[in-house]
Amino acid sequence: MYSEKVMDHFQHPRNMGEIEGASGVGTVGNAKCGDIMRIYLDIDENQIIQDVKFKTFGCGAAVATSSMATELVKGKNIKEAMQVTNKAVMEALDGLPPVKVHCSLLAEEAIHAALWDYAEKNGIKIEGLEKPK
Ligand code: FES
Ligand code: FES
Repeated sequence: MYSEKVMDHFQHPRNMGEIEGASGVGTVGNAKCGDIMRIYLDIDENQIIQDVKFKTFGCGAAVATSSMATELVKGKNIKEAMQVTNKAVMEALDGLPPVKVHCSLLAEEAIHAALWDYAEKNGIKIEGLEKPK
């Protein structure tokens, strides 16, 4: 049911943990099931994401999508990070079973929430970024 890449990222998650004094932190949850995801971003003065870590209380698909999402945004600038949609993450994982697609949304939402936090702290605007709910 899961692709090899999903299994790999689930069993060996990349960038799990937290960053103390992160430039931006975003926490999102799915109210229906209570699953939670938090993303920490370390962003330098050139707006490049130098480091990223995540924590999640969710299923294997949530772990795998967070892990892949962190790999995709690392080293990118904040504009490029906006292109890391849940569709892009799913493609990078060679797909997810349809019942698990909603779990992959948490990663995108958490990245956006962390970018929003960073933008607010620094008084900047990021094109296309909407205030997290
Ligand atoms: Fe809850 Fe996937 S995160 S089932
Ligand atoms: Fe909660 Fe999937 S069941 S995010």
